[in-house]
Amino acid sequence: MQKLLINGKKELSGKISISGSKNATLPILAATILSEKVRLSNVPFVKDIYTMIDLLKFIGLNIKILKKKKSIEIINSNKKIKTLAPYKLVKTMRAGVLVLGPLLAKYKKAKISLPGGCAIGTRPVDLHLFALKKLGAKIKIRNGYIIAEAKNGLKAARISFPTISVGATENAVLASFNAEGTTVLKNCAVEPEILDLIKFLNSLGGKIKIKGRKIIIYGQKRIKIKINHNIIFDRIELGTYMIAAALIGKKIKFDKINTKIVKNEIMILKKMGVKIKDKKFYLEVLKSMNIKKTEISTKPYPGFPTDLQAQLMVLMTRAKGISKIRENIFENRFMHVPELKRMGANIKVDSKIATIKGPSKLTGAEVMATDLRASVSLVLAGLVAENRTIINRIYHLDRGYENLEKKLKKCNARIKRI
Ligand code: UD1
Repeated sequence: MQKLLINGKKELSGKISISGSKNATLPILAATILSEKVRLSNVPFVKDIYTMIDLLKFIGLNIKILKKKKSIEIINSNKKIKTLAPYKLVKTMRAGVLVLGPLLAKYKKAKISLPGGCAIGTRPVDLHLFALKKLGAKIKIRNGYIIAEAKNGLKAARISFPTISVGATENAVLASFNAEGTTVLKNCAVEPEILDLIKFLNSLGGKIKIKGRKIIIYGQKRIKIKINHNIIFDRIELGTYMIAAALIGKKIKFDKINTKIVKNEIMILKKMGVKIKDKKFYLEVLKSMNIKKTEISTKPYPGFPTDLQAQLMVLMTRAKGISKIRENIFENRFMHVPELKRMGANIKVDSKIATIKGPSKLTGAEVMATDLRASVSLVLAGLVAENRTIINRIYHLDRGYENLEKKLKKCNARIKRI
């Protein structure tokens, strides 16, 4: 099994180009079920994307990977489509459930394996099914599969989500793309990745509007035969490397971004004493000596992202005084804490709240990655820790970070995979 070795305390400087967003690419790939010929560019080639590609190939789409051009071409001309997502392709990546909406919309039926549990929480799909039922789908659960049908096609509906969910919003938007009539979705997630999905669907011929947390979908039957779409940048990857720069950077420049999308994160980091020069399409993080304590709560966008919580916690270990994180989205998302404590952090967890007492001097240790964002927080800790850190189970990291070692090495980090 592969491991990462990091020799910490090496100051970082240089430029990091941010990849396309994994969480935008996944629903857009699912949306290609509704299309005929699509070319996606700025695609991040990480494990989750390959899993979604395998799922689409299994369904019957024709996919060509142009890795050097960071692009994928998808052709959906097969008459023999399988409206099935088997367990082996959904169990490792929950986003597989996103093919449910488009399969139902286009082929009027789908059989999708229930994604099952996940390290960071129970992560049910009840909100996805709630929305699809409102759109007229008949749904039953049999032998671990969601079996859904809409014999006469889906019909527009007015749906108000009881809680905000990224995946359920995406599935509902995808399912109502060609539903008869006008669908109104209320209390939606409005993450930038969802806006990117809507941009894609609109260029495919859809008519979808957003007003605050309300999404209005005017059902469209006709689509454009051939479209190109450039995936939005990965704001979580940007936030992760900005925190690396705040921890041990001299001067790191980030490009291929739009700072407006991460203005809340920039504001929080600046308040913590991180020196940031931000322009419209790039930013620089400069050497930051006096990190200040703070308190944050994770929330749906535009609030602070749960996907950046573990990384910010590492920065909080550098701050003088008591910092706090309240995790509101997932019930089990402090799994990085025991490992950070083994590296010298002073952190206490009480239910949803982590209390971080700093500053702590981190020292290298052999640690275990438990999920995608937890593993990258251990990388950040390793970069700033004294001596050597060994990170096990880095397959979690490969699910979502493109060329992580290469990007960090270019900025002088002493990191290698063995
Ligand atoms: C997406 C992101 C993930 C991010 C999360 C929250 C992708 C591929 N993944 O995950 O990186 O951490 O948003 O920003 O984009 N819930 C229900 N019932 C449902 C669906 C969700 O109770 O049917 C709950 C979840 O358990 C969780 C909360 O709602 O507590 C939010 O989850 P959701 O926004 O759906 O996350 P994902 O779409 O799975």
